[in-house]
Amino acid sequence: MRLSFPSIVLLLCGAQISLAGTPKSSIAVKDDHGKYLDAAGNPTYEIGKNGTVDWHTYSGYRRFNGGCETCHGFDGSGSSFGPDLTARLKTLSYTDFENVVVNGKRDLSGGQTLVMPSWGTNKNVMCYLDDIYVYLRARSDGALGRGRPAKHEPKPAAAAKAENSCTS
Ligand code: HEC
Repeated sequence: MRLSFPSIVLLLCGAQISLAGTPKSSIAVKDDHGKYLDAAGNPTYEIGKNGTVDWHTYSGYRRFNGGCETCHGFDGSGSSFGPDLTARLKTLSYTDFENVVVNGKRDLSGGQTLVMPSWGTNKNVMCYLDDIYVYLRARSDGALGRGRPAKHEPKPAAAAKAENSCTS
């Protein structure tokens, strides 16, 4: 579903007012049944003027903080077991993000012994990969603070359908 012209204007105005730091590349230009896409066609977040986050960003908050935070710290801010992803996502592309989460990463140069596990067979991660990505993207852009987003859009029917077919 393409956004009508007025909603695109609203969306861009909202983004300018509430998310002063949001890079142009992160701005949602397409609403695919409640899943927002940037101009390059990659998943992105949508945060309304009153702070209401889209469903996928909210879902990503829950999924990320339900496993990844043990190493990457609550809200992605890093710990002694894993890097600060809010910093890493500033340069990591969507494709590279997917690759590293699916396949893991082990960089043992310089005495580094920490390992990023591979999650490719874990449905609790794979079925929510885009959600985790948009959540971290919002965190990395400074568009979303730490902690549970106070308000979120309801779960879109398309998201429920995709989740059912992915997890079953
Ligand atoms: C057991 C600890 C651990 C867990 C759990 C973990 N990670 Fe990692 N992750 C790491 C480490 C360590 C690295 C750095 C690996 C390196 O650079 O060699 C890393 C790297 C990454 C990177 C790449 C950063 C970059 O710049 O290349 C991403 C993205 C990432 N993790 C996402 C996740 C997500 C999403 C989850 C949850 C599904 C997760 N991680 C769970 C330890 C972990």
